Amino acid sequence: MRIDLISIFPEYFDVLDLSLIGRAQQDGVLQIHRHNLRDHTEDKHRSVDSPPAGGGAGMVMKPEPWARALEVVLADTNPALRPTLVIPTPSGELFTQDAATRLAEQPHLVFAPGRFEGIDERLTAWAAEHFEVLRLSIGDYVLNGGEAASVVIVEAVTRLIPGVIGNEASLQEESHSEGLLEYPVYTKPAHWRGLDIPEVVLSGNHAKTAQWRRAQAEERTKSIRPDLWQRYQSS
Ligand code: ADE
Repeated sequence: MRIDLISIFPEYFDVLDLSLIGRAQQDGVLQIHRHNLRDHTEDKHRSVDSPPAGGGAGMVMKPEPWARALEVVLADTNPALRPTLVIPTPSGELFTQDAATRLAEQPHLVFAPGRFEGIDERLTAWAAEHFEVLRLSIGDYVLNGGEAASVVIVEAVTRLIPGVIGNEASLQEESHSEGLLEYPVYTKPAHWRGLDIPEVVLSGNHAKTAQWRRAQAEERTKSIRPDLWQRYQSS
């Protein structure tokens, strides 16, 4: 998979050189390209924002540098593959595990994380001619910009690509993979500061352990995330 990230803070994405995603890049499973949005400005101040049309607080990102940066990415892309453009924004659709699974099947993702009050809305309309555009929110809270949200989405998506994480079986057993939160997990020592691992987990009886884990996952989901529980029951 190829990923392009465009930002006024391209160094923000240095974290993607660490750990499993860094390894996946070294192994050639992932190609990550960073771009500085200011390299696509044409004025001497390299400005990327201006006051909102119609008035109001804050600044809005101008569409021109974004379009130019996206054109540079497109020029380096096979025209037969329509890339997916992700615009992280708190006013987007909620990013979920299902969305991560769908994005993991795409060959090319491009991220346009806005700052300030967001990007001029016309960029989305223009970009839709060249990209599959998704406006995604990672949760009901507001960040200073879309960079952190981009990192979250890249991590959730790329770990689903074969070859990125070592143990693919763990993908099937984790929270959200079946619409349930994950069951409690334990490791050695069996007794620790007066706390014991539940007997069934140590019993060696795989069927009983699986049954116990399922019940725990359901109980957790019911009490912590009644919204997920309702969806799980009706699916
Ligand atoms: N930018 C600012 N807040 C955000 C959020 N919650 N999700 C995605 N992008 C954002």
